[in-house]
Amino acid sequence: MSLDPALLARAVALLQAGELVALPTETVYGLGADASNPAAVAKIFAAKGRPADHPLIVHLPGDAWLEQWATDIPQAAWDLAEAFWPGPLTLILKKQPWVPDAVTGGQDTVGLRVPGHPVALELLKAFADAGSHGRHAGGIAAPSANRFGRISPTTAAHVQEELGDRVPLILDGGPCQVGIESTIIDLSRGRPEILRPGHIGPQRLAEVLGDLPAMHQSQGAPRVSGSLESHYAPVTPVRLLAPERLLDFLTLQRHAGVSCGVLAYNQPAQAGMPHLWHMLPADPAGYAHDLYGALRDLDHQRLDLIVVEAPPDSPAWSAVQDRLRRAAA
Ligand code: TXA
Ligand code: MG
Repeated sequence: MSLDPALLARAVALLQAGELVALPTETVYGLGADASNPAAVAKIFAAKGRPADHPLIVHLPGDAWLEQWATDIPQAAWDLAEAFWPGPLTLILKKQPWVPDAVTGGQDTVGLRVPGHPVALELLKAFADAGSHGRHAGGIAAPSANRFGRISPTTAAHVQEELGDRVPLILDGGPCQVGIESTIIDLSRGRPEILRPGHIGPQRLAEVLGDLPAMHQSQGAPRVSGSLESHYAPVTPVRLLAPERLLDFLTLQRHAGVSCGVLAYNQPAQAGMPHLWHMLPADPAGYAHDLYGALRDLDHQRLDLIVVEAPPDSPAWSAVQDRLRRAAA
């Protein structure tokens, strides 16, 4: 997939002018701005309605840009970049002194990743070549392109629905391949620590790091905005249920006149149940790919409740489990 040259030129010009551009990545769609321009970054927060102390991920065209943004880069960072970039992995590293507070939430670290989507890469390379606001070219700050606290968009139509009136340009790169946000690993404080689970799981990270990274236990003020309990939530209440409790629960709801949408992966739709039944793939990658779109669809149905058949409690499902717990919080 390649961008129409006129569209690419327009996107670069908008970024250079300090405007927002929504862009596809392999994980979810991002709401992009020139990361070296604090006024441009401020527009991201305004459009999303996101608290200004929440740090953003800076997207780079390649690991050759890493040293412009980060300092004290450990060997582990180079190894992970080599193994997984372009791809759904964000590295938290000590920031270069010039990196704006608007991007880091005032912290001494910065989140960096090279996204694995051809359109994102094409835009990043063209933007880096064209030069940005500051002398530090090549970085696009981009959180997920949704209103604060809502479901991340995995198609251009989702972005249009969330932010269509607030973004001058939405680049359409088709449905996102991964479907949930990148794995975030903090390499800035000694022992590597996973701040947000994702498609690249602990096992695969360990193959590169030589050791299983620690899992961040969230507490107090979140360094990761996604670690707010209520993140990724539909408007409709969400309830997670163990598979063996699903049918009894739904029968009770039916008798009580509660309209439910069901998100299942194993339990097939039941005859006589009026509830909307949505089957997701029974493997973690397929499930993640379809999850946000399915939640969004069910959220549009004016239901009283979205009931989710809880996936297995195993490491392969941990990223999906994480997003579901937040949706239900
Ligand atoms: O897959 C993704 O990562 C997507 C696409 C667009 O790249 N982006 C994304 O951005 O999910 P956002 O803003 O929705 O989530 C980024 C997370 C936030 O939870 C933020 O707190 C964390 O990254 N983050 C960014 N910089 C950080 C830092 N210096 N220290 C700790 N956490 C950081
Ligand atoms: Mg987000």
